[in-house]
Amino acid sequence: MQRRIVVIPGDGIGKEIIEATLPILTKAAKTHGLNLGYTTCLAGGAAIDAYGEPLPQATLDAARQADAVLLGAVGGPKWDSVRPELRPEKAILGLRKELGLFANLRPVKVSPIIAPYSSLKPEVVTGVDILIVRELTGGVYFGQRQEAAEVDGIVSAWDMEVYSQPEVERIVKVACQAAQGRKGKVTSVDKANVLATSRLWRKTATETAAGFPEVALSHMYVDNCAMQLVLAPKSFDVIVTSNLFGDILTDEAAVLTGSIGMLPSASLGQGTGLYEPIHGSAPDIAGQGIANPVGTILSAAMLLRYSLGADAAAEAIENAVQAVLEDGYRNADLYRPGMTKVSTSEMAGLILAKL
Ligand code: NAD
Ligand code: IPM
Ligand code: MN
Repeated sequence: MQRRIVVIPGDGIGKEIIEATLPILTKAAKTHGLNLGYTTCLAGGAAIDAYGEPLPQATLDAARQADAVLLGAVGGPKWDSVRPELRPEKAILGLRKELGLFANLRPVKVSPIIAPYSSLKPEVVTGVDILIVRELTGGVYFGQRQEAAEVDGIVSAWDMEVYSQPEVERIVKVACQAAQGRKGKVTSVDKANVLATSRLWRKTATETAAGFPEVALSHMYVDNCAMQLVLAPKSFDVIVTSNLFGDILTDEAAVLTGSIGMLPSASLGQGTGLYEPIHGSAPDIAGQGIANPVGTILSAAMLLRYSLGADAAAEAIENAVQAVLEDGYRNADLYRPGMTKVSTSEMAGLILAKL
């Protein structure tokens, strides 16, 4: 049986990192007895240019019918002044919402081999193994908003944050379930000293985690968490947090690995899963063949694990990435003298050869 994968390269470095990743996904799948069929679809700026909208119905329909979606990145300066509802980023938000992908898993792992590349001291980051569970279809991202408008001579704008008890409960459950297979620690991150949504979040997290006696839940304010992530990152196991806090904390956590180009993600819900690196379209380096494809390649590994149940194939990719890093190959973002600097496609070729 063929498994259908919708591929959305998107914009900027999106095309380069997806092109680098597909042969690796294909080979890992094939070696483990899976036959993948790809359908390439447009979304983001590329879809605005072709159809005048960021998320064409055809892309959404294809994604709904697929076994999984692999996405590069969307956005760029070319579309920064389009109407808010037509922005490229709307494609990602639309896919997440329409596919019901409420749980975003962003693993942050620092092996001894990449620890020296972090901007933090190696002894602070070596052995970091954090899973950030980000709520993905609620909060201020999806609340009502008012674009800048003038009222009584003053221009103002607003964005509303709403969380319901069931929305918090289901994401905290995901975090607790994940913690059961790990060190059993969940840190719920909020701003309950100020925000009403956070007070509901905290209460619901406590009630939900009570159903997981083997999981130790603690609460932390987001400002403190931002600090602890760079002060003592090894103190964390699973972090669960809201959509906006999760967005910000995961970019911060990425530097523990040395580069945002290293971090993969899986967005899961009831239906098709979506897999993408956590970084954006990196307009500053697009078209140069220097982007780090590892975050996307590790996202393909997550696709194999979570959407196709192919754990061995996922591990094969993860081991191949590790082996190439151990051999001293680095993309520009992680390059240091003494290492071998490689392009996007060269890095992918080396990983492919290890499979
Ligand atoms: P970005 O993540 O694209 O880039 C931030 C910095 O990290 C840049 O210096 C970039 O060169 C570097 N970087 C990112 N990925 C890299 C990689 N794989 N290898 C090496 N370096 C890498 O964030 P930004 O500049 O704030 O946003 C650019 C555009 O991307 C915006 O339009 C934004 O909305 C969009 N964006 C999209 C996604 C997504 O598609 N999932 C995520 C974040 C931002
Ligand atoms: C991410 C991105 C997106 C987000 C943008 C592009 C809408 O930053 O996936 O982290 O904010 O969720
Ligand atoms: Mn982000």
